[in-house]
Amino acid sequence: MLSCKGGTGKTTVSVHLAAAAAKAGKRTVIADTDPQNSAMEWRRVRKGPEPEARPLNAGALFTFQRSSAAAGAEFMVIDTRAAAGDDGAEAARLADLCLIVVRPSFLDIKAVARSVQTVTNLGRPGLIVVNQAPLGRDGKMRAETLGLLRDLGLPLSVPVLKARAAYQAAVACGMTVEEFAPGGPAAEEMGDLWEVVAGRLWATEKVVDLNPASRRLEPMPLFRRAG
Ligand SMILES: Nc1ncnc2c1ncn2[C@@H]1O[C@H](COP(=O)(O)OP(=O)(O)OP(=O)(O)O)[C@@H](O)[C@H]1O
Ligand SMILES: [Mg+2]
Repeated sequence: MLSCKGGTGKTTVSVHLAAAAAKAGKRTVIADTDPQNSAMEWRRVRKGPEPEARPLNAGALFTFQRSSAAAGAEFMVIDTRAAAGDDGAEAARLADLCLIVVRPSFLDIKAVARSVQTVTNLGRPGLIVVNQAPLGRDGKMRAETLGLLRDLGLPLSVPVLKARAAYQAAVACGMTVEEFAPGGPAAEEMGDLWEVVAGRLWATEKVVDLNPASRRLEPMPLFRRAG
């Protein structure tokens, strides 16, 4: 999980995807490399043993990844600090999929370009996850935002995650939005993101319907390609 901009939602997305993987039966661990230890705070208030989470320096990631895999871990989420430095590069180097979390605004998209550069320079697979999108509709802003996001040059996740109080409330009590408000819109969009990520990582295990006509994964207007 990368974003050289702070507060985009890296930790929120990290803990949700880790919990979704654990629920899907994958032995999952969160590597929290951010000195703020936000994922650890979520883990501390969470009930139940899964997913595991460990605080560690980015420099220890390689060894931790190997020892976790040897101990049976199948899925590791690396939460990183908001900086375009060596930590993010080390996480990207070790990741099978680099999620770059960005808010859909001009300054945020411009700022996150350095994270995209890190991923592309290393030749790693990347996916841009748009988080905290406004609930309202503004066609002009959407078209401009879409153009800026496309200029980043990595695939965009479908759907976007909206700014919803449920995310903050769920994380504050160590839960996911699915656990906190089952069947709600936050649970649905996060479930769709998990399907996209799982599809990218375990394509042979789980076939994800990427047909634009399908209901659950239908691209939002923001991400519909022109022509
Ligand atoms: N989709 C969302 N809707 C509403 N609030 C959100 C959403 N995603 C994240 N937030 C809130 O935004 C703030 C920042 O989120 P989070 O801590 O996950 O970001 P971060 O990128 O990990 O931040 P940092 O760069 O400090 O590590 C938190 O208060 C979180 O609850
Ligand atoms: Mg964080």
